[in-house]
Amino acid sequence: MIDLDETTITNAVLARVQAAPNPRVRQVSEALVRHLHAFIREVEPTEAEWEWGIRFLTEVGHLCTQTRQEFILLSDTLGISMLVDAINHRIPRGATQTTVMGPFYVLPPVFPNGADIKGNMRGSPMYISGTVSGFDAQPLSGATVDVWHSDSEGFYDLQKLEQHPDFSGRARLQTDLQGRFQFWTTRPAPYPIPHDGPVGKMLKAQGRHPFRPEHIHFLITAAGHRKLVTHIFAAGDEYLDSDVVFGVKQSLIREYIRHCGGTSPDGRTVQGEWYSLDHDFRLASDRAAGT
Ligand code: BEZ
Ligand code: FE
Repeated sequence: MIDLDETTITNAVLARVQAAPNPRVRQVSEALVRHLHAFIREVEPTEAEWEWGIRFLTEVGHLCTQTRQEFILLSDTLGISMLVDAINHRIPRGATQTTVMGPFYVLPPVFPNGADIKGNMRGSPMYISGTVSGFDAQPLSGATVDVWHSDSEGFYDLQKLEQHPDFSGRARLQTDLQGRFQFWTTRPAPYPIPHDGPVGKMLKAQGRHPFRPEHIHFLITAAGHRKLVTHIFAAGDEYLDSDVVFGVKQSLIREYIRHCGGTSPDGRTVQGEWYSLDHDFRLASDRAAGT
């Protein structure tokens, strides 16, 4: 394998990776080589552009820390995360659809049903309730419901740890005997993903905004069922059609219902503006296709 040129180099590399003892490594290596070589043939980068690409990926790597994962942001903004999600969650019709996890999940503090989980967050009160059922529509008691969301300025608690070192707007709850859960918090807001790094520069160069529509994250687990990672998006949000990470699904959009004063579903008297959201989640069996 010498004197390789642009017509022979791809097959030479493909032949070399045949030596991989693990068949999955071989398959992935072959596909990687075929697709990367095809990309280069299509784009025909100049050497300066090639160096720029290497610098871009280097910058992405340098920004990654325990609290900032620029490679995941790159995957999210290029639609790769949602493609991986779609391939891995070919769940039956009727089960709640999945979407991206995002970078702001940590093991949350445990709260009882009915608690206020807002912590240091300020904003309009919001009462969130729902049920968790299995695919046969039977309520699932004892299901674990992890929830997390931004504040009314679009920041997660993890982005404000210097001001407030405790968790806010995140909780772990458990469904009751009827498969129900409920809690109080504050209404979140649409927000831009971190865009002060190379991914932000890429979005700008591509003529894209960095915003996600307003949403609340849920991670729901129950024995015998597939883990559900999803959001409930606010109906009417201006970014629903252009979510920077392509995570919106029609079935996950719900009205965050506005109220002015009155009595809440858990019998409290509320002054001023508040919101409510009620949503029923249905988990696929862990024997469903795609498991
Ligand atoms: C989020 O919704 O928390 C999120 C998802 C993907 C990238 C950045 C943030
Ligand atoms: Fe989010």
